[in-house]
Amino acid sequence: MSPDTNLAASNHSLIQPLVSITESLDFDAMFKTRQPMELELGSGDGSFLVKYASLNPGRNFVGVERLLGRLRKLDRKARRAGLMNLRLFRIEASYLLEYLAPPGLFDAIHVYFPDPWPKRKHRKNRLINERFVELAHRALKPGGRIFLRTDDQDYFAQMNTVFGASQSFSSLETPAELAGVVTDFEHSFNAEGIPTLRAAFRRS
Ligand SMILES: C[S@@+](CC[C@H](N)C(=O)[O-])C[C@H]1O[C@@H](n2cnc3c(N)ncnc32)[C@H](O)[C@@H]1O
Repeated sequence: MSPDTNLAASNHSLIQPLVSITESLDFDAMFKTRQPMELELGSGDGSFLVKYASLNPGRNFVGVERLLGRLRKLDRKARRAGLMNLRLFRIEASYLLEYLAPPGLFDAIHVYFPDPWPKRKHRKNRLINERFVELAHRALKPGGRIFLRTDDQDYFAQMNTVFGASQSFSSLETPAELAGVVTDFEHSFNAEGIPTLRAAFRRS
């Protein structure tokens, strides 16, 4: 589909077909306007992404979610909001980073409330691990930032350990205007009195 087509206004889905499963995707070509690009992994129902993309029309956003039902819900919300700066993919986040993301493209990566896999024997399934740090480093521009949130203390410690061990990332504060845009899971957790644990790192 031509990037000039007004996908949002024309009622076309923002969910992108996977034209290749082995070669880097041309993310810039999917948008009408070339501008800084941000990636969210595990977008869920997408309240965060719809709000944040609406607040930042001067940036393009890519949302990744493996569950089709959630992605369709996000697609409907985004089209209702008339968003032109968002494209969606149904795929495993680590696969996209490993095989489809061009190096040095993204200005920011957002990962909010990734599945915590609390049982010790399941922790190997966590998205954020040593390999993820390498993949994030490759996908981000120099100076690009990664923003993380979770409710799970053990996963939070793991996030800080793996990024803290990397010479290629330095810790920073999450900007208040970003922290103020809450996700669906965050809203539910906070309503139960469970606080958000936030971390952010800048790529050298
Ligand atoms: C706990 S939910 C959080 C959703 C959203 N970020 C939020 O904070 O409301 C985690 C989401 O990530 C998706 N997910 C988990 N692992 C994934 C993976 N490896 N690739 C893509 N999506 C994934 C799940 O399907 C789910 O929608």
